[in-house]
Amino acid sequence: MGRIHVLPEQVANKIAAGEVVERPASVVKELLENALDAGSGRIRISVEAGGKKLIHIVDDGCGMVRDDAMLAFERHATSKIRSADDLLDVSTLGFRGEALPSIASVARLTLETRTPEEASGTRIEIIGGKLARVDEAGVPSGTSVTVRDLFFNVPARRKFLKAEATELSHIASLVTHYALAHPGKHFELHSATNALLVAEPVAGHRERIYQVFGQETLDQLVPLAAVAPLERAGLPQPPPRKRDEDYQPPAPGELRLHGFISKPEVQKLNRNSIFIFVNRRLIRDRLVQHAISEAYRNILPPTVFPVVLLFLEMPPAEVDVNVHPSKTEVRFRQSGHVHDLVRDAVRSALMGARPVPQFLREISAQPTATPALTPHNFSGRALAEAQGALLATATEFALEPQSLPPQNQRLGFTAGIEVAGGVRAPVAVPQVSGGNVNCGGAIEAEEEQAHEAAVQLASLKPLGQVRNSFILAVNGEGLWIIDQHVAHERNLFERILRQRAAGKVEGQRLLMPIIVELLPNQQAVFAELGEELERSGFEAEPFGARTLAVKTAPAGVEASSVERLLHELLEQLEHERRAISLAQLRAGIAASIACHAAIKVNMRLEQNKMEWLLAELARTECPMTCPHGRPVVLRYSLNDIQRAFKRL
Ligand SMILES: Nc1ncnc2c1ncn2[C@@H]1O[C@H](COP(=O)(O)OP(=O)(O)OP(=O)(O)O)[C@@H](O)[C@H]1O
Ligand SMILES: [Mg+2]
Repeated sequence: MGRIHVLPEQVANKIAAGEVVERPASVVKELLENALDAGSGRIRISVEAGGKKLIHIVDDGCGMVRDDAMLAFERHATSKIRSADDLLDVSTLGFRGEALPSIASVARLTLETRTPEEASGTRIEIIGGKLARVDEAGVPSGTSVTVRDLFFNVPARRKFLKAEATELSHIASLVTHYALAHPGKHFELHSATNALLVAEPVAGHRERIYQVFGQETLDQLVPLAAVAPLERAGLPQPPPRKRDEDYQPPAPGELRLHGFISKPEVQKLNRNSIFIFVNRRLIRDRLVQHAISEAYRNILPPTVFPVVLLFLEMPPAEVDVNVHPSKTEVRFRQSGHVHDLVRDAVRSALMGARPVPQFLREISAQPTATPALTPHNFSGRALAEAQGALLATATEFALEPQSLPPQNQRLGFTAGIEVAGGVRAPVAVPQVSGGNVNCGGAIEAEEEQAHEAAVQLASLKPLGQVRNSFILAVNGEGLWIIDQHVAHERNLFERILRQRAAGKVEGQRLLMPIIVELLPNQQAVFAELGEELERSGFEAEPFGARTLAVKTAPAGVEASSVERLLHELLEQLEHERRAISLAQLRAGIAASIACHAAIKVNMRLEQNKMEWLLAELARTECPMTCPHGRPVVLRYSLNDIQRAFKRL
């Protein structure tokens, strides 16, 4: 007798549930998407025990007639597509016809639904995939789904669920994402005791961000918008409509991008604050992530991440959503084009934003630990619960404490200034560096701001140095502290890039050739990139089998550093040469040379040298961060000083 048999439907559904329903948040996601697909304007979700005990979602969408409501629990029963061709052009969030039967097979589910046209509706109860009862019911128009005791019949799965607070944080994160993507709709999320999110309909994304996260987060973000024709890779154009307007489907042949990105002073330790929506579907996508990292290269250090909300809109046929059971991955038909549009739009928004540095945000006796992205309309207890929930997990929707004590800050990006009386002031420091990017393309108002920043720097009067490393300077704006090494580094970096773009970087003949020994792999890199290095200011000749005689080095690099610089460059180029573009390669070389040639810390500078350095810095295109993304300048504004002395 044969050994193969077809599995009963209930078993098949449970298997499908394994793919679709990973945790309570996946149930919320599916039900939320169904509500959105049903055209709802108002969606209310309540959960208990992190969704493990109860998930209840009520919408005011189109509802279902009795037969449809019954059919909805059959596998592959959907109203959203009809043929395989439709799969190529999916404009709804759902299309697989699997969510409801999958959820129903691993929980106790009650569905109540009514269409606006009908006088009475339908109630269906399903327990562990078995239909328990169907009744006519007097229910409001729309649909409500109640899911109790998730995985009650799959103990193995139940065991793997995380603590209630963790599961709740995943749900809160998810609902927040959808609320951000649909500012025109009303969203509510309640736990057993608290309202976690109540978001009334608002005019656009900006208002929704304010509503959900508050002014402080909004202040840290820069809007961006671009539109490009799909067929050929064109430069992004300004969009023909207002940035914040609610959704409009993209025109045929058009790729639209809008959203918000954080300024360089905002630094997250993971990617959890990067949200990418494609046609309003929240997705995870490596390609877009990569484009974002590229845009922030030389602006943020490689180990930290920005906050990004990106909404990509394109004709549905341009994106294959049928890639993954949870529909969170997609494939773009013109992936290179999407990548480049995202990279260029993010980069030009960053460059355009180059604002006058704004620094001190708050002065308090104790560093506060406000979650950076806590919805600001949380009430006291709700906030505590939400923080507990949200901070419990490090994996989703980063809500890291914003002002950790300085010793806990990675990379020291938020400096602490000690002022008299032991008041510690967390300082947020901007702003944009260019690397291989040019700082041009800013729109008028932003150019003005950049100009103002340069004017402010140009008016600085140096007072002296702190530990021969940091220049103290003043002007009408306040007290400034400039890291002398990185200030010079920024200046040299831009100069070297300019010289390289014009042909050749200025070199300096060494009194005696410096003999540098190379390892075999370094020799190989040198053979490949020798010409680029020569144009970057090095002149070297083979000197014996494995040795080079360096005769000229880039101007400013001391003879004693030449060997180290060359080794560092060869090592860096070996790691990177396959992965990066020529422009990035040049930026990398320029950054290394600038670092070695720049004025060091622990070096005394005469008054005129400090003045010269500040003037040079004021002339740079991106004076606020070094090529590696570190801050160059801190400002303690007059306002901050007055506040610290309690004069304001
Ligand atoms: N809240 C709702 N309001 C109105 N109709 C709904 C609602 N939820 C589900 N439906 C109907 O039930 C059908 C089945 O839902 P289900 O979520 O199982 O599949 P789907 O949304 O079509 O595809 P997917 O499995 O990708 O989510 C839907 O196609 C839709 O017609
Ligand atoms: Mg669905």
